[in-house]
Amino acid sequence: RRITRVHHLAQMKSEGEKWSMLTAYDYSTARIFDEAGIPVLLVGDSAANVVLGYDTTIPVSIDELIPLARAVVRGAPHALVVADLPFGSYEASPQQALETAVRFFKETGAHAVKLEGGERVADQIATLTAAGIPVMAHIGFTPQSVNGLGGFRVQGRGDGADQLIADAIAVQEAGAFSVVMEMVPADIAGQVTRKLTIPTIGIGAGNETDAQVLVWQDMAGMTHGKTAKFVKRFADVGGELRTAAAQYADEVRRGAFPGPEHSY
Ligand code: KIV
Ligand code: NA
Repeated sequence: RRITRVHHLAQMKSEGEKWSMLTAYDYSTARIFDEAGIPVLLVGDSAANVVLGYDTTIPVSIDELIPLARAVVRGAPHALVVADLPFGSYEASPQQALETAVRFFKETGAHAVKLEGGERVADQIATLTAAGIPVMAHIGFTPQSVNGLGGFRVQGRGDGADQLIADAIAVQEAGAFSVVMEMVPADIAGQVTRKLTIPTIGIGAGNETDAQVLVWQDMAGMTHGKTAKFVKRFADVGGELRTAAAQYADEVRRGAFPGPEHSY
């Protein structure tokens, strides 16, 4: 397994090699994804939803995310680990963004940070980049702005395309090493991908981006209820786990577990 760092992602774009990113929030899954060869792991603020049970990503704090990022770094010796900056921790000023990103760097060992927004956070991206902190940007549908955007809606349609392209160019010019595009029409995402020199990472953005990202619980069938159209379930880990838990409980009830082979 080779180690992935930010310059490798630029290299893969120039060679036309597509790559994948998954979220991770703990040591055990980070290890598995690292062993599977996933080159980039994102400690997403989606931890708010899938780890902590909040309805949106808005309530999650720096102090809640830092231990998760630290655990992922410990579990993933090869992957590039990117830590999401939570809502309210970077918007006010480049200074605030730098203080937050410095905390993540010092306390977790992550290799890069991610923040949401295009033109409106260009100054933050430039300041972090100048301080030696690689920044992954995130444009299109940005979940921390769900209230401002009026719900979970596709972005960059019709007149919105010009703003999406302007945001993509702004984050590249500010120094971002890559950009996530969430819930945008496939043809617009393709246009942006061809226009930019930095890699684009799509989620609900079609098949023409340089890379893809999914929340691992969505990808593995660990989430409850209806998932977004852009999710593909590659496994039914939730179903497997439910069966295993029920079987364990049953064997304990029947006295079948532990057997002599599990006893001292
Ligand atoms: O928090 C997250 O999981 C994300 C990805 C879906 C891009 O930001
Ligand atoms: Na996120």
